[in-house]
Amino acid sequence: MRTPMVAGNWKMNMTVEGARGLVFSMSAPLRELKGVEVVLCPPFTCLQAVHALLEGSDIGLGAQNMYWEEKGAFTGEVSPMMVKELCGYVILGHSERRTRFGETDETVNRRLLAARKADLTPIFCVGETLEEYESQRTSEVVRRQIARGLAGLDSVFAPRVVVAYEPVWAIGTGKASTGENANGVVQRDIRAGLAELFGKPTADAIRVLYGGSVTSTNAAEFFSQEGIDGALVGGASLKADDFIGIARAAASG
Ligand code: PGA
Repeated sequence: MRTPMVAGNWKMNMTVEGARGLVFSMSAPLRELKGVEVVLCPPFTCLQAVHALLEGSDIGLGAQNMYWEEKGAFTGEVSPMMVKELCGYVILGHSERRTRFGETDETVNRRLLAARKADLTPIFCVGETLEEYESQRTSEVVRRQIARGLAGLDSVFAPRVVVAYEPVWAIGTGKASTGENANGVVQRDIRAGLAELFGKPTADAIRVLYGGSVTSTNAAEFFSQEGIDGALVGGASLKADDFIGIARAAASG
C-alpha cells in the first residue's frame, strides 16, 4: 500500500513572518491527520523558521530545488548537504525550473542522483506543455522525462522517489486536468515507464502525485483514481483552509 502524500509548493512566495503565520494557522489541523504524509516546501529563506515550527511533528519539510555539487564556487546555489540540514525532501525538475531556468532531463537527473547520495526524498516532476498536449505528444514527453530523469537510479532507492505528474498547461491556470485524464497518463506512461526502469513490483511501490490547479474542491476527484497517490499543490498551498482541505481529502482519518 502506498501512503498518500500532499506536498505544498509555496514557490517564490512568503517572507519569514508570513511563513510563520501560515504554518501557525495550518499545523494543528494537519498534525491530527492520519494516513497522509504532508510536506511543506517554502522558499530557502523560510526553511529555518518553518523547520523550527514543525519540530516534533510528522509534517515534512522540503526545498524547492538544489544543485548537485557538494560545495564550492557556485554563486547562488544550494547544495544537497545544505538542504539536508533542514529538510527531508526536495522538489526536482519542476516545470518552472525546466521552462524558465533552463533545466534539462540531464541536469534534473544529476540533481536526482545527488538527492539519492544525500538521502533526500526527491519529489520529481514531469509533465507536458500545452503545445505538446495539443499535438498529442504527452506520452512521448512524459516517458522521456521519466527514462532520462531517473536514469542510473538503483532500485533500492527507487521506491523513495515520489513522482509528480504536472501537466504544464494546468499549473497556476485554474484549469486542472480531470481525474480520468491524469490517471490515464499516470498508468499508461508513468507507471509503465517506471516498470521498464525498475521492474513492476518496484514501480508499484512508487508514489505518483498529480499537480496543477488542485484545490480543496477538486482534490477528491484525483485521489479517487487508482494510480494517483496525492497531490503537489501550488497556489492552494498558500491558503490554510484550502491546503488543510486537500490534505484531509487524502487522509484516512
Ligand atoms: P498550482 O501549482 O497548484 O498553483 O497549479 C502546482 C505546482 O506548480 O506544483
